Amino acid sequence: MDHVIRTRNLTKRFGHRTALDGLNLDVSAGIILGYLGPNGAGKTTTIRLLAGLIRPTSGSAVVFGFDASDQYDALQRRIGYLPGDFVAYPDLTGAQYLSYFAHLYGGVDRARIDLLTKRFDLDLGVRIGALSRGNRQKVGIVQAFMHDPDLLILDEPTTGLDPLMQREFRELLRETRDAGRTVFLSSHVLSEVEAVADTVAILRAGRLVTVQSVQALRDKARRRLDLTFATTPPTDLVRAVAGVQQLSIDGRVAHVVVTGSTAELIKTVAAYGVTNVVSHEADLEAAFLDYYDGQG
Ligand SMILES: Nc1ncnc2c1ncn2[C@@H]1O[C@H](COP(=O)(O)OP(=O)(O)O)[C@@H](O)[C@H]1O
Ligand SMILES: [Mg+2]
Repeated sequence: MDHVIRTRNLTKRFGHRTALDGLNLDVSAGIILGYLGPNGAGKTTTIRLLAGLIRPTSGSAVVFGFDASDQYDALQRRIGYLPGDFVAYPDLTGAQYLSYFAHLYGGVDRARIDLLTKRFDLDLGVRIGALSRGNRQKVGIVQAFMHDPDLLILDEPTTGLDPLMQREFRELLRETRDAGRTVFLSSHVLSEVEAVADTVAILRAGRLVTVQSVQALRDKARRRLDLTFATTPPTDLVRAVAGVQQLSIDGRVAHVVVTGSTAELIKTVAAYGVTNVVSHEADLEAAFLDYYDGQG
């Protein structure tokens, strides 16, 4: 399989502090990878290594077959990069700023810039210094996407965007992925990435904790079910089903917490006159926090 990103023992130290510790991560083409971790985990450090802005202390980051740390020219046009602390030249208007970058990229389809600008309801005539945080972020988004790069490296991109724009942005990410591009998206908020990511990589204190498909994470997560029975719920029977963690009875309703598949439970109770089943969303947050806390 072809990997867009391949890191081997990628390590970055700042003085005595190890920001990233031996990262081995492969990202295949055409997916959205959510790069998750609490503040200080090393997400931005990873992203700056991938974008070739800093050099590793040891190990390597290879992007499209090029060493990210010294093949910047070969990679620039193929990568769209949105830094976490997006600060642009405050005296330039959005339009001036974008045409500066369009020039660096060796020309950009004007219609694509217009489309992105309209989509995010951005006024390019305004000085960047006079824009709100969210609008500045939109300039950064247009800059990252305007040359239709093969790989997008986005550091906490929805910071400052209102919910409507966040939704629009997620839609753009899905379209980008569906067009075969690859997205590397960092965040410290699970809910922000689970809606779009195919795979999540979880980082804690500079180390990769796990890489899993969002589906796998969801399958393993806890789920609450409310089962209404025609008569008194068969408690012993429910308790005996694999994966059942908790059970409480409220009249004819059994509230059950299950990890993993609910199929076995449903099959078991179906024979006992269940009249209604309400299944709540899997508690991905809890599964995720287990990884954060180091219990996963
Ligand atoms: N330029 C730097 N100089 C010194 N320490 C740094 C520098 N950049 C990051 N760090 C440290 O490296 C660790 C990881 O930071 P960072 O990659 O920014 O994490 P995240 O983006 O996940 O919040 C933190 O402890 C941070 O203080
Ligand atoms: Mg960061």
